[in-house]
Amino acid sequence: MGSSAWIFLQGRAHTEYRRGLAGLFTNKALGVYSSVQERVYDDYFDKFVAHTEANGGKPTEFMGMFREINCALSCRTFFGDYISQDAVKRIADDFYLVTAALELVNIPLSMYIPFTKPWLGKRTADAVQVEFAKCAAACKANMASGATPTCIVDQWITHMLESEHYRNLIAAGESNAPKPTNLIRVFTDREIAQTLFTFLFASQDASSSATTWLFQILAQRPDVLSRLRAKNLAARGGDRTRPFELNMYESLTYTNAVIKELLRYRPPVIFVPYETTKPFPITPTYTVPKGAMIVPSCYPALHDPTAYPDPEVFNPDRWITGDAESKTKNWLVFGAGPHDCLARRYVPLTMAHMIGKAALELDWVHHATARSEDIRVFATLFPMVCSFRP
Ligand code: HEM
Repeated sequence: MGSSAWIFLQGRAHTEYRRGLAGLFTNKALGVYSSVQERVYDDYFDKFVAHTEANGGKPTEFMGMFREINCALSCRTFFGDYISQDAVKRIADDFYLVTAALELVNIPLSMYIPFTKPWLGKRTADAVQVEFAKCAAACKANMASGATPTCIVDQWITHMLESEHYRNLIAAGESNAPKPTNLIRVFTDREIAQTLFTFLFASQDASSSATTWLFQILAQRPDVLSRLRAKNLAARGGDRTRPFELNMYESLTYTNAVIKELLRYRPPVIFVPYETTKPFPITPTYTVPKGAMIVPSCYPALHDPTAYPDPEVFNPDRWITGDAESKTKNWLVFGAGPHDCLARRYVPLTMAHMIGKAALELDWVHHATARSEDIRVFATLFPMVCSFRP
């Protein structure tokens, strides 16, 4: 990502940068992205079925497919049609090299030794950012011509253009000019690419992990899947083919509960590294010194029986008739503090869109194996083996 990436900023510099990005995740903005996402789901659900047919209907590993749909979802939500399908596929195929690089990231200089995992990961990261910078340039040209925003970068550039316009009016003496809601500076194509790369990095593994468990667990729980299916059909007025809209989300209480329970039961991001900015007591007898790295895990808090009774049971109803919603201190799925997940509203929304549409258009069977309930940590949590037949 490079040490200059905004997520490594601290204090005021970080808060200000982040404030400029928050406008890309408001309800209004999220509503704009759902049509581009609907097309990704249409495309990939066909691919899921074709993938199984190509294997003669036999159960096949699906983790690769789940990684690919999430990569396509991110690339299209970020860049809409400015990014080619070839580029999306290449990024999806190569991105695991970026994740694999993390295994050796603390070995000094390994990034410069050809063909090591960090070297391969860095090359991939650089290539993705070159592609993203090209898309940012195309996006800027289109928005300058007055086009309507359809994706995150369109939205960001619209805010830059509105801010620039406002500054010009003020410079021309129009002191009463209306101030834009998101007053930001102009970012270069490279800065846009780098920022969107941090989004892809933050999203790819976490979202793929959540998708994999969601499909696996719902296949194992037909009671949950059929209730979710019925609720999604009702939200679409009985029309199975009606595209998802933002205003449906509020009525999808059960779908939302399934997603929250999934994120609690199998939290994708269990380790978040923090650096101490002052001595930090972690037990009555041990205080971590300033400047040390602490890597706390949210897993125990999310499986704490005092907050979530029977924590090893997947029970979406605890979010409806139980008191899970009130356990905010335990709900660390998206982190906490100034660097908490920028997409904490976007994630449940896109997951609701994906699983609601999948429930209405697909059926799938999970083929359990001796190892499919074992957990594998590849940056995030995955089942050790994940085979499906849609
Ligand atoms: C299931 C999906 C996801 C989970 C579980 C998740 C979880 C997290 C967690 C635990 C953090 C660290 C919080 C902290 O330091 O306290 C984080 C940070 C972040 N996430 Fe997510 N995330 C997910 C998806 C996404 C997506 C889809 C995006 C972007 C579109 C995203 C963007 C970010 C960014 C930019 C940060 C860093 C924020 C900062 O440093 O200010 N995440 N996420």
